[in-house]
Amino acid sequence: MFGSLPRTVRLLDAGAGAGSLTTAFVSRVCAGNEGVRSIEATLYELDPAILDALSAAMRECQRRCMDAGIRFTFTIHHADFIQEMSARLADDLFGTTPPAFDAAIANPPYRKINADSAERRALRSVGVETSNLYTGFIALIQRLLVPGGQLVGITPRSFCNGPYFRPFREDFLNHLELRRLHVFESRQAAFRNDSVLQENIVFHAVKGRNQPVEIVISHSSGEHGGNITETTFPFAEIVHPHDAEKFIHIPSTASHATAKATMDGLGSSLASLGVTVSTGRVVDFRLKEALRKEPERGTVPLLYPCHFNGGTIHWPKLEARKSNAILDNSETRPWLVPSGVYLLTKRFTSKEERRRLVACLFDPDEVKAKWVGFENHLNYFHANGHGLDRTLAVGLYAFLNSSVVDQYFRRFSGHTQVNATDLRALTYPDRDTLQAMGREVKALNLSQDEIDHLVGKHLHAHR
Ligand SMILES: C[S@@+](CC[C@H](N)C(=O)[O-])C[C@H]1O[C@@H](n2cnc3c(N)ncnc32)[C@H](O)[C@@H]1O
Repeated sequence: MFGSLPRTVRLLDAGAGAGSLTTAFVSRVCAGNEGVRSIEATLYELDPAILDALSAAMRECQRRCMDAGIRFTFTIHHADFIQEMSARLADDLFGTTPPAFDAAIANPPYRKINADSAERRALRSVGVETSNLYTGFIALIQRLLVPGGQLVGITPRSFCNGPYFRPFREDFLNHLELRRLHVFESRQAAFRNDSVLQENIVFHAVKGRNQPVEIVISHSSGEHGGNITETTFPFAEIVHPHDAEKFIHIPSTASHATAKATMDGLGSSLASLGVTVSTGRVVDFRLKEALRKEPERGTVPLLYPCHFNGGTIHWPKLEARKSNAILDNSETRPWLVPSGVYLLTKRFTSKEERRRLVACLFDPDEVKAKWVGFENHLNYFHANGHGLDRTLAVGLYAFLNSSVVDQYFRRFSGHTQVNATDLRALTYPDRDTLQAMGREVKALNLSQDEIDHLVGKHLHAHR
């Protein structure tokens, strides 16, 4: 998982055991043409019984590096990593510099640490407040990395959403850019001997303050040689930008499978509902002369994705760069639609958007006009060129904005574009179910949870 490495790599392996992670790092560096000339490994291990095996493994690393023309030096510290590094980081205040590392690889020990334990006191002295040894290790390692330094760690996934880990998550996400997460789906396979069976993850993070726009999440069973599936997600979906808890949401392949099963169970096609979806017909650069920044006499509303405002339309939007109106004349009329209730979806969503599919309702009571123009960057659902039954349209709003549909889309569309053909190919709930959903939506500003709850309830009732 490591990205590119400097010519000289100062490597830290804290809780090194028999040195298998450093050995793996060395294999990778020796195999690839990475430009690494020298590795200076620092290893911490407390258990005296394993030190001989660790030294032997490091001598083997040295031999392999020599064959590859790479200098390898190592120092094994038979010491408590928490105590020693906390002290050195705290001493930093008095002018001694703690060690600095370009790369760290870690499979730290997992154990609860009580509020009055020596470990907790040591960690507290450098501002780390955490209740498990593994998060303590990671928090210290983070502090020892140089800017741009990389950490690959394997840990339980409990820190991603456990309420007690909130301060840790904050510390982690403020100083480490999360680049990749790998999840072992099986609780048993990876760590059979661990007393607490829990899912484990491997992560790659880089010391820095700018989280990436996208992150790769991969899954495998945890059995040796199992398949690895990879999906790219907008980072904002993994850590929601305004979440005070800073939960790290890891989508599971199981939820994709459930979404597929749910969608496969739906019996209606769009055509059988008497609904059509088309791409907005106004291609603005072809009708440039007819566009107007502000509505004026002789124009009708022109809708772009920038007019989406949650579940409804905000129009006109005079501060936007886009036009708000289009002349209604014999040249433009073929590209306009008669006013009515339409459901609109964006064809392109930005990477920051949580869902691939964003639907909102065009309500003729809110935007008064006889005709309207839908621009080419959006799709509109209609009934044979005219508006839809309102309750049906609101039901479609709920369904298309649900996580089930989103997850279904993600399974096959790696890109963020949703075209009319994709929407035509979807399966839909029948008319009664959509209308029942529509009747239940009182306002078009539902949260994701509210939408999912409502849609889930109705899809379930009809199975
Ligand atoms: C989960 S094992 C991982 C071993 C090795 N990195 C691997 O992946 O095979 C954690 C290791 O950390 C060591 N350890 C536990 N507490 C420690 C501490 N306070 N300081 C240094 N090492 C410690 C344990 O003895 C154990 O070998």
